[in-house]
Amino acid sequence: MKNSLKLGTTRTLVTLGVLGIFLSVGCVKKEGTSSSVGSDLASSNEILIGEYGSMTGSESTFGVSTHKGILMAIDEVNKAGGVKGKKIQLKNYDDQGQASEAVTVVTKLITQDKVSLILGEVASSRSIAAGAVAQQYKIPMVSPSSTNPRVTQVGDNVFRVCFIDPFQGSVMARFAINNLKLKKAAVFRDIKADYSVGLANFFVDEYKKMGGEIVADVSYASGDMDFKSQLTSIKSKNPDVLFIPGYYTEVGLIARQARELGLKAVLLGGDGWDSEKLTEIGGEAIVGGYFSNHYSHEDKSPVVQNFVAQFKARYGDVPSGLAAQGYDAAMVAIDAMKRSSDLSPKSFRDALAQTKNFQGVTGMITINEERNAVK
Ligand code: PHE
Repeated sequence: MKNSLKLGTTRTLVTLGVLGIFLSVGCVKKEGTSSSVGSDLASSNEILIGEYGSMTGSESTFGVSTHKGILMAIDEVNKAGGVKGKKIQLKNYDDQGQASEAVTVVTKLITQDKVSLILGEVASSRSIAAGAVAQQYKIPMVSPSSTNPRVTQVGDNVFRVCFIDPFQGSVMARFAINNLKLKKAAVFRDIKADYSVGLANFFVDEYKKMGGEIVADVSYASGDMDFKSQLTSIKSKNPDVLFIPGYYTEVGLIARQARELGLKAVLLGGDGWDSEKLTEIGGEAIVGGYFSNHYSHEDKSPVVQNFVAQFKARYGDVPSGLAAQGYDAAMVAIDAMKRSSDLSPKSFRDALAQTKNFQGVTGMITINEERNAVK
């Protein structure tokens, strides 16, 4: 949460003075595009919950990593006896990284599968779109890692277990000015992603407040492959830092093209950079960049180390921030189910709203009146 990761050839990551972190470089082992634990329908001995995420598409590592964390949490709870004597069963759908598909599969989870709680999404635009469906049917939804403020403003059934972008944006602005001592920034935002637009705005506000100058503020659209014309105009303004609050696929390409054009600015970003694919796509060009994230697998706390060890034993790789957030989202939801007066979505919602000092992997979580996480 307070970390900033530095991407380096040595893989040593400098932080905001709190924690040292390694960037894990590796391959995600793809799981099925849609999977469920156990059979498709919950019997009376089971509680069925839903999950939707980008299991495929240009943000597939988000969905796949989150799903791993969620599965691990559910298995752990089921092994320990489940919730009120019932086993948790998970129904997962791939939304292919599309907001319209997210709406479709969440509608399906609610009306066909009849889930009583939903976990998802990672990307804010998809959580906003599908959260409206959950709200309409009054089924509680917990987003693991959507950070745009609007996500939980959709209604009183939508919760999250991560920090929000006003925090993340100002942390990165202060990091640029106080730690890097760089006072001339350019911003390159993805106009198609609510996350990117919001985070860019919060960064700009704080950066200016701190006495920094924004010399360029230009945009691209998710799915673009050629960023040379915008990068050429950015280069002409000679910024010290380039803030790219986007997702890893475009960020990797932008980094490459920026360096090809001779742009020397330090690259900065947010949690959307958290993917092992970033260094695969960006290569050397991304080295030396920094981004903020939700947790560090190098955190010495026993909670984190225990989680990392379990995750490694199960999947063979180091859990990303997304996996940790997925695990925490599931555990917070399950904790609420345990405290709930009965098994109705309404009672689950009410219990979620009462979450206080829940010890997660990513911090001690309390849900506030806005249904956001205070950590
Ligand atoms: N915070 C991003 C969003 O709201 C999603 C994200 C979270 C991506 C964590 C990577 C890691 O869209």
